[in-house]
Amino acid sequence: MSETIAILGGTGDQGLGLALRFCQAGRKVIIGSRKAERAVEAAENVRSQVEGADVEGYGNEEATTKAEIVILSVPFEHTAGTVKGIKDSLSEGQIVVSMAVPLATAIGDGAVRTIGIWQGSAAEMVQSLVPAGVEVVSAFQNVSAHRLQHLGEPVECDVVVSGAKAARQKIMDLCPLVDGLRALDGGPLSNARIVEDITALIIGMNIRHKLPDGLGIRFTGLTE
Ligand SMILES: NC(=O)c1ccc[n+]([C@@H]2O[C@H](COP(=O)([O-])OP(=O)(O)OC[C@H]3O[C@@H](n4cnc5c(N)ncnc54)[C@H](OP(=O)(O)O)[C@@H]3O)[C@@H](O)[C@H]2O)c1
Repeated sequence: MSETIAILGGTGDQGLGLALRFCQAGRKVIIGSRKAERAVEAAENVRSQVEGADVEGYGNEEATTKAEIVILSVPFEHTAGTVKGIKDSLSEGQIVVSMAVPLATAIGDGAVRTIGIWQGSAAEMVQSLVPAGVEVVSAFQNVSAHRLQHLGEPVECDVVVSGAKAARQKIMDLCPLVDGLRALDGGPLSNARIVEDITALIIGMNIRHKLPDGLGIRFTGLTE
């Protein structure tokens, strides 16, 4: 089954990049925004770049009801508020994808380090907020928004996907839809705390190596 993918905050850099790539792969995408008209504009933007894109824009709550997979693409500091806002729109069996990174910018510090989260990671915080029967999967934190938006080029990044097994597999299956992305089984959701921290390391390396488009990560030694 080809599940519909909603991207809340798909008006921003990372969400728009994923929307473009998933539409390019022929998947149905719903863009969510706090303001429905911004989501409609973002959907028009996607259609202008991807011929035949199956994409629509709605307010976050309506977008949530229209998809089996809901990707949260808002800055970490607005993640809890966004999840609380869509809580009543979520239903059993849906998968919520967390790609938030708790960068210290959330408290006015720098983007090259993270802050501690009571639950262990942003993804586990999201899991603590969603209704029972909704699975949270952690993915895409290490993928560059700039590279996602360069549609003609592969993204070249491994995506460590963590969460309960069946839901994790569904999100792993999304990764190869994006040219250059490879999914790696990251085990339980608690491993999200490691993956989220890697993004702060990447941001620092992007600065030191002067890489405005952002670097990706690759694990070696896999046999398949
Ligand atoms: N940018 C990257 O390269 C990158 C890489 C890896 C992971 N990520 C993660 O992806 C997520 C999105 O990153 P981004 O760079 O795309 O963020 P962004 O462009 O700064 O913001 C994304 C969207 O969040 C919504 N938003 C902004 N302020 C909000 C508020 N006060 N309350 C609720 N929603 C608000 C906005 O959507 P509306 O105004 O339309 O509601 C905005 O378009 C973050 O969690 C980030 O850690 C980003």
